[in-house]
Amino acid sequence: MRIIESFDDKEALSIAAADAIIDAAGRAIAADGRFLFVLAGGSTPEATYKLLAAPDRRDRIDWSRTYIFFGDERLVPYDDPRSNYGMAKQSLLKDIPVAPDHIFPMTTDLPGVEAAQAYSDTLTQFFGPETTPWFHLTLLGLGDDGHTASLFPGKAALHETKAYAVSTPPGVLPPPVDRITLTFPILNSSREVLFLIAGEGKAAPVQAILEGGATLETHPAAGVTAPEGKVTWMLDRPATTKLWEQD
Ligand code: 6PG
Repeated sequence: MRIIESFDDKEALSIAAADAIIDAAGRAIAADGRFLFVLAGGSTPEATYKLLAAPDRRDRIDWSRTYIFFGDERLVPYDDPRSNYGMAKQSLLKDIPVAPDHIFPMTTDLPGVEAAQAYSDTLTQFFGPETTPWFHLTLLGLGDDGHTASLFPGKAALHETKAYAVSTPPGVLPPPVDRITLTFPILNSSREVLFLIAGEGKAAPVQAILEGGATLETHPAAGVTAPEGKVTWMLDRPATTKLWEQD
């Protein structure tokens, strides 16, 4: 199931996203006793993370029952401004009472192939060897080129069916650093996916995917369908400008 929600601006989108995360956490903990949560990188989620960490919201999630994973990572040290973990730490993780052993960053001090294998191993250890990793909620973004997580157009990672995480060279957009990314089978195992999409640069890929029948090969975000769950596209107004095109 795909749901499309649009907001006046990025601030309204970020508030709605923070509240949607709180709701998802509550449902997960009520149903399963824990909340398995995947964070997105890039710049858009930062405002949402800050809202979640602010005093008026942070007590609305039971962080002691929350487990935090990452959808992708850039192969740079955590204190590099390009690090997804670094961004999440500064905007969210440092301000919430989540135990360090509930946070699962992707390793970045190994070569890509080994770092990806290390994350696959981390997931196997967490879920057990018999269970394909799955999450209650996965946050994702959309690149101007249609990528999501670090699944870039035309790259081999799009076709991975077995590994939970793979390494990949960067796409055409900055930063030009190698990445590690969860693969489609794992992203699609999520009960719920929330795309946070803001800015005019997203209007063309949004239109191509939601209306133009774009393919996974040209616009990898089109491949996130979460067959067992729901995918919500949260868009700010600039990202919707090519949708429902006026005559
Ligand atoms: C990354 C990502 C990536 C991101 C999109 C959107 O590490 O870069 O996780 O998939 O979500 O590129 O990024 P913005 O939010 O910065 O537009």
